[in-house]
Amino acid sequence: MLDLFSEEQEDSYKPTITEAELSDADVLVELRKLKEELKDKVVVLGHHYQQDDVIEFADITGDSLQLAREAAKLDKEYIIFCGVHFMAETADMLTSKNQKVILPDLKAGCSMADMARRSEIDRAWNFIQKSTKEKVVPVTYINCAATLKAFVGDNGGSICTSSNAEKIISWALSQGEKLLFFPDQHLGRNTCFKMGIPLEDMVIYNPNMLNGGLTSEQIDKAKVILWYGFCSVHQGFTKDQVLAIKKKDPEMTVIVHPECPFDVVAASDDNGSTSYIIDKIAKSPAGSKFAVGTEINLVNRLAAQFPDKKIVSLSPYQCLCTTMYRVRPRWLLASFRAIKENKPINIISVPEDIAHSSMKALDRMLAIK
Ligand code: 13P
Ligand code: SF4
Repeated sequence: MLDLFSEEQEDSYKPTITEAELSDADVLVELRKLKEELKDKVVVLGHHYQQDDVIEFADITGDSLQLAREAAKLDKEYIIFCGVHFMAETADMLTSKNQKVILPDLKAGCSMADMARRSEIDRAWNFIQKSTKEKVVPVTYINCAATLKAFVGDNGGSICTSSNAEKIISWALSQGEKLLFFPDQHLGRNTCFKMGIPLEDMVIYNPNMLNGGLTSEQIDKAKVILWYGFCSVHQGFTKDQVLAIKKKDPEMTVIVHPECPFDVVAASDDNGSTSYIIDKIAKSPAGSKFAVGTEINLVNRLAAQFPDKKIVSLSPYQCLCTTMYRVRPRWLLASFRAIKENKPINIISVPEDIAHSSMKALDRMLAIK
């Protein structure tokens, strides 16, 4: 993670408001005041996995695709992004030069994004190109560093999110014969299978092995090359949990995020992005029952929002995204205080050349309806 930050950004990472100085309750009081005072220059975006005390201050909440689309429309000077690093980078690229994107805690990264590095992708690409004459189109899940988005932009590919993966992959396969999909193997596999591509036509490229653990023949034969990456939160759900919950209560609808493993998605009743899950639950009749396989802050919020429905986590264990959880109200307050003093901290700024290449891939994604 740390190599993502410039020295200046590292220096500005300072949790400045201690509990001795200000209680949690007082943090919320001051935040409400500053949010109102600075409303003409600051907008707060919050991903669905943020904790409730942070979501309270979000002007716009959404999944990765919604937040990217919204970021592109914003006109406020400061955008405080309550989410993780790759999301703030995306927002920076989608907003104008005079707008500043702030991540309240610079250490809010994503373990999945860290599983694919630019040097590894370059190495994989060279090997893949040597192994086949067929055209390979790269698609990256938006959960990755801007340097990877730039790779995709420069190599004729697109970005996708969990909301539009199917559309983007079918676009990619209309542009060439093969797909290289990174960093999330599960989203790639689940989506391609849903589109009718058999599992035998998919191979896994593991960057920790020589040539990804693949022969040139395997690459030449495959339709889809999946990167060996995963989300540590969603990979924790199991098929046994689905079977156990269904056995206990056959009326329970199991709905999971497509970052879950293939056998979990296959055993579940339904799957989709965080927005899809929210929408399905919101539109279901009173008395409906859902076991949800996604991040716990969202599941708990849905349970509180819909008391007339039974909403539980699919897993008996704590499925918390610890990096999303790093964004705490007191760091949000530190961001607001710094803006008020005209000394903004934790600004996420993607170098111009990387942003230029990444934008080709982001624009492709936003143009594919
Ligand atoms: P979506 O926001 O696309 O549902 O993705 C979930 C996620 O893991 C974000 O990091
Ligand atoms: Fe990354 Fe998973 Fe957390 Fe999303 S939920 S930010 S993919 S670790």
